[in-house]
Amino acid sequence: MAVERTFSIIKPDATKRNLTGAVNQKIEAAGLRIIGQKRIKMSKAQAEGFYGVHKERPFFGSLVSFMTSGPVVVQVLQGENAVAKYREVMGATDPAKADAGTIRKEFAESIEANSVHGSDSAENAKIEIEFFFKPEEIVD
Ligand code: CMP
Repeated sequence: MAVERTFSIIKPDATKRNLTGAVNQKIEAAGLRIIGQKRIKMSKAQAEGFYGVHKERPFFGSLVSFMTSGPVVVQVLQGENAVAKYREVMGATDPAKADAGTIRKEFAESIEANSVHGSDSAENAKIEIEFFFKPEEIVD
């Protein structure tokens, strides 16, 4: 498997509880390199655009207000098999179903306030990275 990139968001529930460093420690311990990172306040338009695929889901409105409720840290991660590896490090979307040692098992508050987002494919990673980063903001 070649070196690839994935997109990550450390969500408002985690930044609020000062868990940015703890999340990054798990990312780096898994061998993923943080090659782009910035702390932003997501606008409503950004959150609606980013999560557009979920717009018909019952949780969409609540998700948009949660994601705009406080600072987030958007990241580009790079490494061997980065998309699948980061999904392992995050654990299941629902923290009740996440494996021991994963970010969501240790830190998430609920299925919505689940501390982190990670891309589900290399194709979506590219789209998601381009949604938030200019090329010069990524340094590998
Ligand atoms: P994320 O991986 O960022 O993708 C969509 C987000 O919607 C998810 O993490 C959760 O934060 C949120 N969400 C809230 N309720 C649900 C649900 N029932 N199923 C999936 N995602 C949910």
